[in-house]
Parts: sequence; C-alpha cells; structure tokens
Amino acid sequence: MNFYELIMKRRSVRNFNDQPIPVELVEKLLDAANNAPSGGNIQPLSIILVQESENKEKLAEIVGNQPWVKNAPLSMVFCLDYNCVKRWAVMSGTEFKGDQAFSHFLISYADVICAAQSVVLLAESLGLGSVYVGTIQSCMDQARQLLDIPEYVLPIMVLSLGYPKSIPHTIPKLKREVIVHHEQYQVRSDEEILQAFDQKYGDFSIKAEEYLEKAFIETIEADKQGADGWTEWAVSAMTKLEIRNNAEFLFKLRYPNDVMVKMNKHLIESFKNAGFDFFLEQNS
Ligand SMILES: Cc1cc2nc3c(=O)[nH]c(=O)nc-3n(C[C@H](O)[C@H](O)[C@H](O)COP(=O)(O)O)c2cc1C
Repeated sequence: MNFYELIMKRRSVRNFNDQPIPVELVEKLLDAANNAPSGGNIQPLSIILVQESENKEKLAEIVGNQPWVKNAPLSMVFCLDYNCVKRWAVMSGTEFKGDQAFSHFLISYADVICAAQSVVLLAESLGLGSVYVGTIQSCMDQARQLLDIPEYVLPIMVLSLGYPKSIPHTIPKLKREVIVHHEQYQVRSDEEILQAFDQKYGDFSIKAEEYLEKAFIETIEADKQGADGWTEWAVSAMTKLEIRNNAEFLFKLRYPNDVMVKMNKHLIESFKNAGFDFFLEQNS
C-alpha cells in the first residue's frame, strides 16, 4: 500500500484489542511527534503517556466517559507547553509571553496538532489505529489536576491508540471539489452548499441507528463497548428535538449552539487557571 492509499484508508478507530504497543513502536511514534513542523521551531509541546489502567479509567471518565480511552492500551495527551519555553527564556535573560499573545497561541496550537497528526499517520502505517478525543478541552482543569500539569501548560488533545479490533467501514466526507478553490475563493451558491452536504450525509429519513452509524458513530461504538445508553439517548433526543435534517442534528443536538457559546466562559476560566490571559495587556 502506498502512502496515499494509507491516508485514504485511515479511519478513527475506537475498538482496540488488548495487545500492548511495543515500546520501540511507542518511541517511533514519539519521534514522529518530535520531528513535526513547528512555528519558529519553538516546539511548545509535551506529550503525557497514559497507560496504567487506573489512570486510563480516570481520563476516560473526565473526557465524557468515552470507553475507548479506557480500553486503548495507550492514550497520548498532547499539551501546549509554555512552561518549559517561558522558564528557558527567563534563564536565558529574556522573556516569553506566549501566554498573553494570541498569535503565539494559534501557532502553538497548530504545532501540537501537526505533531499529533504525524503520530496518527505513522501509527496507521505500523498497523495501529487511533482516535482523537477533543473533549479534553472541556475539562482542562480536571485533566491538569489528574495529570499533575503545571501552569502554562494546556492539555488540548488526547490521542488513544492500539491495535484495531474493528475499523469503521465508511465515514461520509464532502466531495473534494467542495473544499477546493482555484486561485481565489469561490463563494458557493445555496444550491451547491445544500447539495454538497446532502451528498455527504445521504438520506436523512433512514432508520435512526443507521443514521447514527454515519453521523455519530461514537454512540454505536460506545454502546458496543458497554457504555450503554448512548444510542438510546441520541435516538430519543432526535425525536424530542424534532430533528429534521443533518444540520439540525449537528447544531441542535450534537453540538447545541447555546451550549457551545456558553462554553466560552468556562474555557476562558480554564485558560486563566493555567496562567493564560490574552486580554491582560489591553485591560491593564
Ligand atoms: C479535533 C478532533 C476532535 C475529536 N474528538 C473526538 C472525541 O472526543 N471522541 C471521538 O470518539 N472521536 C473524536 N474525533 C474523531 C472524529 O469523530 C472523526 O475524525 C470523524 O468522525 C471522522 O472520522 P474519521 O476520522 O474516521 O475520518 C475527533 C476528531 C478531531 C479531529
């Protein structure tokens, strides 16, 4: 299989067997992360390896009881780390104010995800599967406490890895043409947008479980792994909220707008708790 084929066959894997990942492979994955591109080559990155049962269980719980975090042999917690960079700058007679500079933050966030994605692709090539767990962003305070993370470090992504027991077959994606523009951005017509997303998700009026398989595979996977009740919850919420189409499903049920907007306050608080404040200079 060539690299293109490997990338095209990658799916998020949430069902792992018990086989541990050999240490040499874990080291290779970490090398891939460490060798990823990084803005200014600053490398504001730390990765916490979570492998012990009790810690995996606790981590799984705080990220929203996602069973694959508990069941995977390894979860990597990718952290945006200014602790080391700041202390290094001070010891070198200067300062680093990334914790107050949104532009530093945006680049560093991209750095961390570049590193994580390098791990995803190398893992795939080594016969491993992986899944990102982004919900750690909603529980950064608990994660920092659980993992003993110091100030100026934000846990921003979990990547759970292991040998796949099963792999989801198809996951709908937009057609390539939808995301590509030549030379200049071409604003899509309403008709084109509707068609693009209809094509991605297909018919909404299929059986709820079949729909969830395409649009919220986590519910099916979680129930298979004994979490129990995710699918039932989603199906009954679809009825209760009178969900009529794919967009309503996403933005009324799965990521309700009011909840997402209200989350700002909580996130900003978590940032502050970790020593990050992008509005400090302007306010003072
Ligand atoms: C930023 C980000 C956060 C994600 N968070 C979660 C998560 O919390 N739980 C989960 O099971 N999958 C999570 N995923 C995986 C997505 O659900 C998955 O990538 C998507 O359904 C597309 O499937 P594919 O990866 O097989 O193409 C996340 C993916 C990304 C990129």
